Amino acid sequence: MDTEIRPLQYLVMSGSGRAGSVNRELTRLAALAVEAHGGIADRALITDFPMPIYDGDGEADEGIPEGAHAFKERLDATDGLILVSPEYNASVPGSVKNLIDWVSRLRPHPFPQKQILLMSASPSMIGGNRGLWALRVPLEHLGARVYPDMFSLAQAHAAFTPDGVLADEPLARRLEDVIAAFMDLVEAATHYPCVKHAWVEFLGEHPDPALDRVQAT
Ligand code: FNR
Repeated sequence: MDTEIRPLQYLVMSGSGRAGSVNRELTRLAALAVEAHGGIADRALITDFPMPIYDGDGEADEGIPEGAHAFKERLDATDGLILVSPEYNASVPGSVKNLIDWVSRLRPHPFPQKQILLMSASPSMIGGNRGLWALRVPLEHLGARVYPDMFSLAQAHAAFTPDGVLADEPLARRLEDVIAAFMDLVEAATHYPCVKHAWVEFLGEHPDPALDRVQAT
């Protein structure tokens, strides 16, 4: 029996790739926290995975873009995803939803039973938290296990010290605690997997290559 305990790996991705992005800054702290708790962090930006806006004709003519394949490959190689996303108009940025939509067209797609922690940062007092509730919907629909707790950094433009850490110490502790608790769950889920074997997009649908919305996991 293989008794070796390997460090668990996490894809830690910012949903904004722009220079000066507060979500990028928070992603950096999340990756450091993962490493401080014994995990391996694979850092990514959404802009590492370029793709056009989803269009069925484009998919039929040109196939699924390389960026979607690359994201799946990176996610498949990990035990969990930490997704740090901006909030646009109280919801998910189109770029993040577009990535989810493209990746969901792959078979198998990587979301069933994937452990995901959602985080956000915004200059507002809400910290992008409404966007995370919206982001939860497509991810859970695709069978991901989205961690119940989330972390939203309010007034993010003023939240970091010049050294790039969170100025507010209780908030910094909460960030560490949320990530450590998520990692405990991923550890347990990795070593004690549950018995769910299939993801079905719409209950009542029968497996059919034309629809192809059922996949064994
Ligand atoms: C925003 N922003 C924003 N912020 C927020 O808290 N709630 C919101 O609904 C919105 N809506 C919104 C729409 C659009 C189109 C843009 C461009 C921006 C502000 C947003 O949080 C801010 O620009 C962040 O700095 C974006 O994240 P990054 O790029 O800094 O990580």
